[in-house]
Amino acid sequence: MSDNEQQPERNYSDPIFIIGFMGAGKTTMGRALARKLNWNFIDLDDLIEARAGKRIREIFAESGEGVFRSLEREALRSCGDSPRTVIALGGGAFLSEANRAQVRRAGKSVWLDCPFDMCLARIEGDLSRPLASSEDAMRALFESRRAYYATADFVIQTGTSSPEALADEIKKTLGL
Ligand code: S3P
Repeated sequence: MSDNEQQPERNYSDPIFIIGFMGAGKTTMGRALARKLNWNFIDLDDLIEARAGKRIREIFAESGEGVFRSLEREALRSCGDSPRTVIALGGGAFLSEANRAQVRRAGKSVWLDCPFDMCLARIEGDLSRPLASSEDAMRALFESRRAYYATADFVIQTGTSSPEALADEIKKTLGL
């Protein structure tokens, strides 16, 4: 793991936000990290669906991406600064300046930097992700988002390591 910003901290209990592209493994790794820390885990997409009483693809189809992004912002805000919680964000959540500011205020962010082909292999043909349409469209999205993801506090290269190994790396970096 390379450290974008700072030193490990003792007694750290602020939320850890996992960010990155669709298919990067945010939910799987986030769950593994929460389990290892004995912390809570929140998947922001699940929270949005629970609050709306609808699947994400229905929200996109019925109301459009703009409404989805508002629901996403409200859901993130509702998590506040929940202590001892790992929160996996959807792939587009960190593009919003308001969301980035909220994350910065509340805790630390970790970017799971996963090669495009690996993300693609995991999400191709997954109808639950409205923005995972054509390969070209996804590649363009992937490239245009990297600059935002790169502002995370920490970046971790994923690829060959297991979610468990990645979770151990994050734990170590945060001194947990
Ligand atoms: C999105 C990613 C999805 C979900 C929504 C929009 C995006 O989450 O929030 O479909 O804009 O990249 P995952 O990254 O968990 O697939």
